[in-house]
Amino acid sequence: MIKLPVIPDERGNLSFIEEIKHIPFEIIRTYWIYDVPGGEKRGGHAYKENQEFIVALSGSFDVVLDDGKSRKTFSLNRSYYGLYVPKGIWRQMENFSTNSLALILASTNFDEADYIYDYKLFKNYVK
Ligand code: TYD
Repeated sequence: MIKLPVIPDERGNLSFIEEIKHIPFEIIRTYWIYDVPGGEKRGGHAYKENQEFIVALSGSFDVVLDDGKSRKTFSLNRSYYGLYVPKGIWRQMENFSTNSLALILASTNFDEADYIYDYKLFKNYVK
């Protein structure tokens, strides 16, 4: 979990992310996940090369990370915290609150060949 800068202001707070400085990669792609129906899960895969940084810009959700040996759940519910997901980590997003908004910064362009969708293949890959 990485704490981001906060510029507190009576007019409303401001936070920001600079590549390399606040997160350990150059930002090649940005996407966001929103309008998630109650109970739905996103993710459930790993990337061979892509690294990500996930921020709950609004609302809350959990990110479950799994390195093939152990599994840990991170609750994201503040827009000034983000979760760094290195390459080669299985990740799933769940427990989205109503109107939650997940911002995801990624280190590579979208490439379906970079995905590992099968958990058994992932376990073999990390071995
Ligand atoms: P996917 O990464 O599988 O979403 P999640 O991890 O939340 O389940 O992507 C879902 C679909 O969106 C898939 O068809 C690929 C497409 N997609 C893009 O075209 N570009 C992107 O940058 C991303 C993240 C997904």
